[in-house]
Amino acid sequence: MILWDSVSESVVHKQLTRKRPCARWLISDIMRHHWLLLGACGWVLLILMFASKFINFPFRRPDDYGGKPKSISATVATPGDIQLQLVDKKRIPTEGLLTAKPLPVDYEDWEAVQAGRLDRLSRLCSNDSLKNLTHTPITKFILDRIFVCDKHKILFCQTPKVGNTQWKKVLIVLNGAFSSVDKIPENVIHHHDKNGLPRLSSLNESEILKRLNSYFKFFIVRDPFERLISAFKDKFVQNPRSEPWYKHDIAPAIMRKYRRNHSEAKGLQFEDFVRYLGDPNHKRLDRQFGDHIIHWITYVELCAPCDIVYNAIGHHETLERDAPYILKAAGIDHLVSYPTIPPGITLYNKTKVEQYFSGIGKRDIQRLYARFQGDFTLFGYKKPDFLLD
Ligand SMILES: *[C@@H]1O[C@H](CO)[C@@H](O)[C@H](O)[C@H]1NC(C)=O
Ligand SMILES: *[C@@H]1O[C@H](CO)[C@@H](O)[C@H](O)[C@H]1NC(C)=O
Ligand SMILES: *[C@@H]1O[C@H](CO)[C@@H](O)[C@H](O)[C@H]1NC(C)=O
Ligand SMILES: *[C@@H]1O[C@H](CO)[C@@H](O)[C@H](O)[C@H]1NC(C)=O
Ligand SMILES: *[C@@H]1O[C@H](CO)[C@@H](O)[C@H](O)[C@H]1NC(C)=O
Repeated sequence: MILWDSVSESVVHKQLTRKRPCARWLISDIMRHHWLLLGACGWVLLILMFASKFINFPFRRPDDYGGKPKSISATVATPGDIQLQLVDKKRIPTEGLLTAKPLPVDYEDWEAVQAGRLDRLSRLCSNDSLKNLTHTPITKFILDRIFVCDKHKILFCQTPKVGNTQWKKVLIVLNGAFSSVDKIPENVIHHHDKNGLPRLSSLNESEILKRLNSYFKFFIVRDPFERLISAFKDKFVQNPRSEPWYKHDIAPAIMRKYRRNHSEAKGLQFEDFVRYLGDPNHKRLDRQFGDHIIHWITYVELCAPCDIVYNAIGHHETLERDAPYILKAAGIDHLVSYPTIPPGITLYNKTKVEQYFSGIGKRDIQRLYARFQGDFTLFGYKKPDFLLD
């Protein structure tokens, strides 16, 4: 982990730990303009009816994120795929109306859910006895995780294994470097010098502060243990050939240190991974692995949710409500829209979690939970007692 220059770090830190004016302002302002917005909704729909064309792109299952790229211009949804649609106003409608999703009628209800999440976060963040689990210094590493959409004044913190690539593509197009999602070359999506979606760390301190204090900021979370399972499957089981280092460098390093039975010749097992993650001294290996750890470190370590004042937190489990909410709250719902997400695919799968953790020692699971407790607590995920007792 590269430390942000310590002087500017403390300045950034001071500025960011102030109260949460952004979120409060945003919410009350939105409520004041609720009726106005409702009227605007109808208007936007009318525009969509007359001048819209939808460009589909695949939204892979969370377990597939970061995997081998599938055809990026596919327009036919395969079962389990979610499609995110960009509205291109210049084109004549074809099947436009059929897929145009009206703005959610219960935006107000969901706004209350979001406000509840932010309140919970702010309450827990200010509890000193949880400080170690909830706070993290704003380092260059954190600023590397946050992407900047200047055109629409949005900051997006990346939490891998939670469907982030799709949000990044949307922001790349909104920033204007590419005219549509299917025109972004696959090798450019994560190439932030070339894709017009810069990292916050690429700006100087005053530019960073300006954005942190005024832009709409959001990130997405999901159940912390399900995310670890997804990371394990994606990086060590279905590992794509384009990322050989997970199997060739990282897995052997974890096995050398954490495998109980060294005559066991199988590749990295979930148990080894759990023992590494739950080790209070995991940081020594983390340093060797560089930025690849973003796939399995905590949301707290990735996005500093108690040190940066976010305006919305999406939950993968309720993506159907959160995606449209975020688009609208960020003021980009007239440019992008979410279609129906096939039912069930974002739901928490307890059976899968039980399967992966079966046969792993209680003490190892408890240590893992101790490390991820902050993520469970801050975002309201239930403690997985069925694994711990
Ligand atoms: C702070 O967190 C601790 C540990 O979870 C809890 O026991 C305590 O009640 C909390 N304090 C407040 C003020 O919420
Ligand atoms: C909290 O962090 C401090 C400094 O990193 C450390 O000395 C202390 O032992 C930690 N406390 C707990 C309860 O982990
Ligand atoms: C920061 O960057 C902005 C925009 O590039 C520039 O105008 C400003 O002078 C820079 N400030 C410092 C302190 O370097
Ligand atoms: C260690 O692994 C080897 C190879 O799979 C196996 O034969 C042996 O029984 C294992 N030992 C223990 C103590 O589990
Ligand atoms: C949950 O996971 C199990 C085991 O991986 C799988 O067999 C099952 O189909 C999943 N259930 C759902 C609803 O996806």
